[in-house]
Amino acid sequence: MSKGSFYVTTPIYYPSDRLHIGHAYCTVAADAIARYKRLCGYDVMFLTGTDEHGMKIEDKANEAGVTPKQFVDEIVEGPRGIKDLWKLMNISNDRFIRTTDDYHVAAIQRIFRKMYENGDIYKGKYVGKYCKPCESFWTESQLVDGKCPDCGREVVDAEEEAYFFRLSKYADRIQDLLENTDFLQPRSRVNEMVNNFIKPGLEDLCVSRTSFSWGVPVDFDPGHVVYVWVDALSNYITALGYCNDAYHDMDRYWPAVHFVGKEIVRFHSIIWPAMLMSLGVPLPKMVYGHGWLNFGGEKMSKSRGNVVDPYILAEKFGVDALRFFMLRTFPFGSDGNFTNELLIQTINTDLANDLGNLVSRTTAMAEKYFGNKLPAGGELTEADGEMKALADEVAANYQAQMDVFQFSAALNEVWRLIGRANKYIDENMPWALAKDEAKKPRLLAVMKNLCEAIRVSAILISPVMPDTAQAIFQRLGVPENGRDLDAAAYDLETEGFWTITPGAPLFPRIDMEKELAELEAMAAKAKQDALPALELEPQATENVDFETFCKSDFRAVKVKACEHVKKSDKLLRFTLDDGTGTDRQILSGIAKWYAPEDLVGKTLVAVVNLPPRKMMGLDSNGMLISAAHKEKGEEKVNLIMIDDAIPAGAKLC
Ligand code: ME8
Ligand code: MG
Repeated sequence: MSKGSFYVTTPIYYPSDRLHIGHAYCTVAADAIARYKRLCGYDVMFLTGTDEHGMKIEDKANEAGVTPKQFVDEIVEGPRGIKDLWKLMNISNDRFIRTTDDYHVAAIQRIFRKMYENGDIYKGKYVGKYCKPCESFWTESQLVDGKCPDCGREVVDAEEEAYFFRLSKYADRIQDLLENTDFLQPRSRVNEMVNNFIKPGLEDLCVSRTSFSWGVPVDFDPGHVVYVWVDALSNYITALGYCNDAYHDMDRYWPAVHFVGKEIVRFHSIIWPAMLMSLGVPLPKMVYGHGWLNFGGEKMSKSRGNVVDPYILAEKFGVDALRFFMLRTFPFGSDGNFTNELLIQTINTDLANDLGNLVSRTTAMAEKYFGNKLPAGGELTEADGEMKALADEVAANYQAQMDVFQFSAALNEVWRLIGRANKYIDENMPWALAKDEAKKPRLLAVMKNLCEAIRVSAILISPVMPDTAQAIFQRLGVPENGRDLDAAAYDLETEGFWTITPGAPLFPRIDMEKELAELEAMAAKAKQDALPALELEPQATENVDFETFCKSDFRAVKVKACEHVKKSDKLLRFTLDDGTGTDRQILSGIAKWYAPEDLVGKTLVAVVNLPPRKMMGLDSNGMLISAAHKEKGEEKVNLIMIDDAIPAGAKLC
């Protein structure tokens, strides 16, 4: 029987680049909730997608020399793209919306027109600052140290004729919504919104652009495209069929629970409810602003280049291990610091040691003592009652935590039961009971208790680790009707369960040092690959006057001898014929690029009227001219060699 519907969404991500572990974090959390609610018996709609319009994507496509649509198609649908990533990560989304989908584009035009016709959108002139990476307009007073208050990057001046949305009109209702309801979670995010954005005065929002074209055109004023956030936020209702005929699910699923990162809480808790008020659509149930995964103390972000690739980690350590790690380690409302050590340590401790061992030991012993099928019967004792009490308590606490999206606390509960079951093995010592035929009934009850504790744990972890739960059910021979949340009550009376099929360890132990070294090498290579092929020093912007320039005396010189300077890995010592009849000594820091013997006899260029300099105790009289650039971040230096027909001492001018 259905308990009603439940609608959960992730942000629709920008396909401006490959996604990283931060995006996977939010999507896995939403997936765990979708699976949990299905397990509870809800009619679930789980939506994710991509936010494909805007100046940033247009710029990226231009750089890549393709059209914006080609650019996003590759990242969304292409090999190892966003859809592939969600398939790999076992994401059970019911729909995937792209803001370039025809039905969405048409719906956005209708939504914009609707707000224009009801007087909430009007034409005006925009003067202010714009942050490209965030696609956000700011007023001067909102900037922090002259930079974008969200990401801290440079903003640019912007001025254009534009449409405005009467956000100011809704300020009081929004403040009331935030302060006096549970709309925005966790509660700690409310003050920031009210104090930083509402109290200083909500200004009307600029909702159209003319400075670029990659967006949804305003149908009654072509040349204007709809502001990308109006376009993006509306996805949550267009994907259900609002203002379009592609779907008819508004009544069935709306309102939603929105999972979003804390940096976009502002858009979701102020602008989005105001838009819905204007449209006369009921407000979302909740906006949950989760924390950031940081890396090396900084927010992981595509533009900072400090990203962790979920593909690599999932392929290396397994999808379930990665999903588990993220939800178990970082409390959902708080920031967390991602490290590879923490990931491996969590897998080794919680999964290999605790859960994996429990399943391996239990199935191996059950098979050894009873064959593949546990018979009816068994002799219970008081200690077994304690296990049942704990299991029931854990199941109840788990649900209470999942209901408020506290994955980490919910999993903690399950691990209490798993820990207790491991201890139960040590206390009851099945191997000792097995030595005495008279104790066989007790041994049977011990094995059944263990199987039951594992079965209950498997049900509870199934939203987070779906494949692992299935593998466990299969090893214990748990029938379909013993796998859902209604069946999570600990019950030793159930007969007919427990057909045992032991298998390989569910989570092999990871060799920490070896894997860390491999991951570091991969990261170093990825960083290297991301570096530009060629980097040139920017050209000087300041002129040098001709007189000054002419004072520098450039001469052709011939290398008579060249050798390494002792105790220096940088310097070469040149003995040069400069045409004067007296040898000239110049030291040059190019030892990294040249073998001294290869330079003897070459004709080079030197500035000969620089003041002498001492290096490593030796005089250098002048400077050899070379060309410098960077390739893949690596410095390259080439000495300027000229035609050997030019005599030593010839002046260059
Ligand atoms: O903001 N830690 O898209 P986006 C945790 N298109 N979560 C992270 C994260 C990190 N380091 N980095 C990203 C956009 N996320 C808009 C959204 S919605 C109508 C439009 C997650 O590609 C987090 O959920 O920048 C964050 O809010 C989202 O990815 C931003 O993805
Ligand atoms: Mg972002």
